[in-house]
Amino acid sequence: MSQKNDKRGPDYNQLEEGTRQSKPILRQQGREIQPYGKIARLPIALDEKVCAASADNLNQLLADTMTLRDMYKKHHWQVAGHTFYQIHLLFDKHHNEQDELVDTIAERIQTLGAISLAMAADVAETTLIPRPPRGREELPVQLSRLLEAHEIILKEARTFARDASEAGDDGTNDLLVSQVIRTNELQVWFLAEHLVDVPVVHADKAKGASAGH
Ligand SMILES: [Fe+2]
Repeated sequence: MSQKNDKRGPDYNQLEEGTRQSKPILRQQGREIQPYGKIARLPIALDEKVCAASADNLNQLLADTMTLRDMYKKHHWQVAGHTFYQIHLLFDKHHNEQDELVDTIAERIQTLGAISLAMAADVAETTLIPRPPRGREELPVQLSRLLEAHEIILKEARTFARDASEAGDDGTNDLLVSQVIRTNELQVWFLAEHLVDVPVVHADKAKGASAGH
């Protein structure tokens, strides 16, 4: 056995070398590899102009969907009243479904070779949905705000679906129709039924009686 192998403890020369190699390199800076708004074309048999137009529309939809998603979370936290528990859960369910749409839309934009919006400041500059106050509001106001946001999204999603169809971008058209439009329409139904003014405990006998005659 050599003297070298008998040595106990670390070899400090090797330790220093190993430390140097595994040390994270922090605060790095560099150029963007793709500027926002530019297409890095992928082999998906779609013209670059078609990809750019679809991505532009989808980024608007993405900003509005992110805003609606976040508004659901705001109202999930701030809701008050005797229906607190069911509304608290419903708002979170819708939030999660909108969050899935956000990822689907963003990844479609990347698939088109474009760059999807991501950060809150960029979303705030882009969205068409009116900004709610920071404070707490009554449930009917929360519901009205959400319904208005859904309608903005549905209107633009239908227009963008037609644009995509006419341009031959079937993938974008399918995403808009089968996922964005269907999900938003269903959520509108679930919200809107809460704004129908029906009696909670006593039936409205006067109206019922007159209808019977
Ligand atoms: Fe929660």
